[in-house]
Amino acid sequence: MTSKPTVQSDPAPILACTISRDVQRFDLLIDDMEAELGEAWGDLNFEDALVFLKQPDSTGMQFVAIAVDSEDESELSKMNDVIKAAKAKKIKVLLIANQVSPSVLHQMLKLGADDFVPYPLPEGALHDAIERLRKPAPVLPDGYDPETGTFNPVFKARGDRNGVILPVHGMAGGVGATTFAANLAWELCLIPEAEGMRVCVIDLDLQFGSVATYLDLPRKEAVLEILTDTAAIDADALMKSMLTFNEKLHVFTAPADMLPLEMITPEDIGRILDTAQANFDFVIVDMPSTVVAWTEAVLTRAHVYFALLELDLRSAQNILRFIRALKAEALPHDKVRYVLNRAPKFTDLSAKARVKRMAESLDIDIEVQLPDGGEQVTQANDHGLPIAESATKNPLRKELQKLAKSLYDLNKAAETAKA
Ligand SMILES: Nc1ncnc2c1ncn2[C@@H]1O[C@H](COP(=O)(O)OP(=O)(O)O)[C@@H](O)[C@H]1O
Ligand SMILES: [Mg+2]
Repeated sequence: MTSKPTVQSDPAPILACTISRDVQRFDLLIDDMEAELGEAWGDLNFEDALVFLKQPDSTGMQFVAIAVDSEDESELSKMNDVIKAAKAKKIKVLLIANQVSPSVLHQMLKLGADDFVPYPLPEGALHDAIERLRKPAPVLPDGYDPETGTFNPVFKARGDRNGVILPVHGMAGGVGATTFAANLAWELCLIPEAEGMRVCVIDLDLQFGSVATYLDLPRKEAVLEILTDTAAIDADALMKSMLTFNEKLHVFTAPADMLPLEMITPEDIGRILDTAQANFDFVIVDMPSTVVAWTEAVLTRAHVYFALLELDLRSAQNILRFIRALKAEALPHDKVRYVLNRAPKFTDLSAKARVKRMAESLDIDIEVQLPDGGEQVTQANDHGLPIAESATKNPLRKELQKLAKSLYDLNKAAETAKA
């Protein structure tokens, strides 16, 4: 038997594959794939892709580009199977998404898609994404965050804590709520006996949040993902969205852009706080000074709710309204602890008398008084440092240090009593 000499050369090996319901709906992708890969790519629908990915022929492929639009959202499980099959073969997965909702996108990325490009494809976007996929994954040291370029020695989220939730709410703008929240959190981290204790600050002042500024931290994109898709939140996602200050204090910053406060639901906030509580010993929450739909979700979870005020008519009037609002909604007013910031000096007797009169007329106890720390406080904030790091002996710092210690002791005592 004579064999015919083969005139055909081997066809180019298939390096990649587009997967979609109908690739004709993504004609820009066809053009770009041709430009990048010539003939070395194929196209499949979801069903065929699943079969193909399980065959030996697909071994060694560089990537699959899964193209989806809003009509595919109902087919999420099919797409997920394809992603899993590709990952099982160590084939990279690139998503091409045309008007897909953030939550679906988020789910697909979570399942292991390596990258995504919006459709219509921006000029050069497919080329860049392919370049990124082809680069061998760098071996990153533990805790390195490629998004911010910082080291973030995250501990393993184990869900083994039952943290104390301490919200801080300024009764008027500028009374010092954020200074209090950020510095109290840092003082808790500095308590010598508290080695291994986990503290976080969550900035829920979604529009004017300045915890990031006061601790000189960048604002991560991941924060927005968490806030807009809390259904997908788990401990790992929350930890990854946080940054650490001086390798100790974990911070969930406010997003980079202003968010409408009503965009977030009480359930969203509940899930974030519950997840934080399960992974930290102290959860400090910086609240917006307005009362919003989810204030209740925070208040009901709070152990103690700090309300900051100053000795002026503005604070007094707002406290009256605040108390009335809580009572109208039958919310637990007894959790509120009033903190007078920039309190008068011990020697200023007439001002002391005014504090007393203010408390009496509002029928509240002012349990904590914090002194004016002068210019040093604003300087520390502007430099992005806690007062403990920039003005150790500042009188405000000393009071916050004492408060942190007493909160720590109280919590220890409560834990011992439970055990
Ligand atoms: N006890 C204090 N002594 C001196 N300056 C303070 C004190 N508390 C706050 N400040 C300053 O007041 C300004 C407003 O504080 P901030 O914490 O941002 O207020 P809020 O969060 O209530 O709007 C900042 O410039 C801060 O440095
Ligand atoms: Mg503030």
